[in-house]
Amino acid sequence: MSNEFNGPYASLEQNALSLKLVAISIRELLFIKSLPCAVYGIKDGLFKLLLDTGNSVDNNTVRDLLKEGQHYLFVYRSERQTLIEHQQTNLRNVTRSLSVGNPVEKAVKQMNLLTINLGYLYSDPTNDQLLELQFQSAKNLASFLIDKCEIHEQIFQEYLKQKHHFILGQPLLSSIFLMGILKNASLYNNSEVINLFLTSYFKDIGMSAIPTEKYDQVELNDEEKVLLANHARHSVEILQGRVPLGPSYLKIIENHHSFSLLTQNLELSLSTNNKVLAGFETMLVTVMDVISAMISGRPYRKASSLYESLDLIKLLIADQYPQEFKLIVNYFRNFFFQGRKGDIF
Ligand SMILES: [Fe+2]
Repeated sequence: MSNEFNGPYASLEQNALSLKLVAISIRELLFIKSLPCAVYGIKDGLFKLLLDTGNSVDNNTVRDLLKEGQHYLFVYRSERQTLIEHQQTNLRNVTRSLSVGNPVEKAVKQMNLLTINLGYLYSDPTNDQLLELQFQSAKNLASFLIDKCEIHEQIFQEYLKQKHHFILGQPLLSSIFLMGILKNASLYNNSEVINLFLTSYFKDIGMSAIPTEKYDQVELNDEEKVLLANHARHSVEILQGRVPLGPSYLKIIENHHSFSLLTQNLELSLSTNNKVLAGFETMLVTVMDVISAMISGRPYRKASSLYESLDLIKLLIADQYPQEFKLIVNYFRNFFFQGRKGDIF
């Protein structure tokens, strides 16, 4: 008898849930002491309440969910904003207190929160409040890390452990690498390095034209391919007039995939000639992007090691630009020597 009544009732309830729930990333549960909303998962093909409002969440909670195969989590659409606001507050708080406590722990926390919040920005790129928080927080992180190149390798290893979606994680990795190389080059003052960090970090915001999860497909459809091909220009359109980056930085963003143009125009890039330096910066942004892409895994291919990615860069630029290649290798040398033989080697 109970089956007769429970069956149809359960399916009605499930139908209602499928209309009311929206997907979230499991990483959004990081740094939450008390859940602002209920979290659902899927068990035996049905939605199921996993964590209730007010439940405490720690690393073990997340680990247990993953162990149980709960990779797809949901919250009520009406409560989605509470989780976003919670993570925005977390980001603001850690941004304000970066210099207090253990620098590695603080930097890694800030990096993870930036990436979680970058996901919100990619879902809503015209939202001024999201962009402003992201810009300010990324700028504070850059100022914090600029004189701490010695911890880059360690924070890199720690950050990789969270396995953020590559679309969201790659910009931060490539920007930190860029910062280290620019500092090693000793050609720039700190404010230029910070602006170039931000340029690199926001260069791919135009990729938000395609929903993040679509990038998990091996092949995008034709319309998505066109959107992807135009993402550099789209990034400039999104950023222009909304962030304090000057025209020369926006130019770098616009050209960050014009590798052939770079290889034609670059001659002894380390000269002090401004025109040439602009090419050098764009090339570095592009090269760091290639390295970060290679070392981040995709659902359809494994991550390459840092060594393999440097091998490709060697093929691309070492003959024509030996000095620049040396700069890159010198920076990553620390990663090889200090590395604790993690995933990348
Ligand atoms: Fe790009």
